[in-house]
Amino acid sequence: MQAARSKSTRWPRPTRYRRAPAPSRDPAPTPITAYLSAAGSGKSGCRYGTSPSPRRNTVEHNTTGDYHIQTALPRLNALAPAFEAETTHGRLALEDYRGTWVVLFSHPADFTPVCTTEFIEFARMAPALKERNTELLGLSIDSIYSHLAWVQAIRDKFGVEIPFPVIADGNREVASLYGMINPEESSTETSRCLFVIDDKGVLRAMIYYPLTTGRNTDEILRLIDALQTTDRHRVATPANWRPGESVIVPPPRTVEDAEARKDLGYECTDWWFCKTTVPAPGSKG
Ligand code: BEZ
Repeated sequence: MQAARSKSTRWPRPTRYRRAPAPSRDPAPTPITAYLSAAGSGKSGCRYGTSPSPRRNTVEHNTTGDYHIQTALPRLNALAPAFEAETTHGRLALEDYRGTWVVLFSHPADFTPVCTTEFIEFARMAPALKERNTELLGLSIDSIYSHLAWVQAIRDKFGVEIPFPVIADGNREVASLYGMINPEESSTETSRCLFVIDDKGVLRAMIYYPLTTGRNTDEILRLIDALQTTDRHRVATPANWRPGESVIVPPPRTVEDAEARKDLGYECTDWWFCKTTVPAPGSKG
């Protein structure tokens, strides 16, 4: 990850009517698009490939500090909404992570027990993510001082160093861009949302958990492995797939393809249901 941006000299931040950054353009086709286009045009049924640009999703606030939160979700396979924010590691922009995968996650509040267990487990997961060229970036609406105090408390009370930056999103700008606030659950706090953004800045996966359920780091790693395996080998991964297990070959879309695959050595249960093996993530191959 690139070095943090220089510390903001704009404190206290001016109160002004702000608009979130304009949505970015659609990205170039990714390997998933290539995989899926290998399966055909995607014109019927489930639509594959890149989607239109993300909807404009803004937070607008007035001078009294009232917020109008936007709750629309960003879209899979579109560019992840751009932002720049104050974090425990200085000012950071999503753009700074280009070339690296990012797990952007929100938690409801600092100094809460479930969130503390998540931070500890996410810190333990960080080296495994690094092996996958992936960085963690946390977020809540708490202040930077609260984040700093909580991170120190986790170190002092639990002996765990938090290695990743945490965004102080007091004005809900990033939360609004990503639809992290679910008013039916909490009108102020961010839910347990997690966004996987690939090295080209494309949003590849979203996980939403309620306030009361801590997330599973095995599943997060499995998800990254699955996405990166799809990109490398143009395959899909079946239910409960684990790295090293067989993967799904995209179904043929033409008679010619259906015939050709008979000679490709796949394990086929039927012409539309074929598996193959690929090198496990992290192995040479
Ligand atoms: C927690 O992290 O313990 C928590 C936070 C918000 C609601 C419920 C639990």
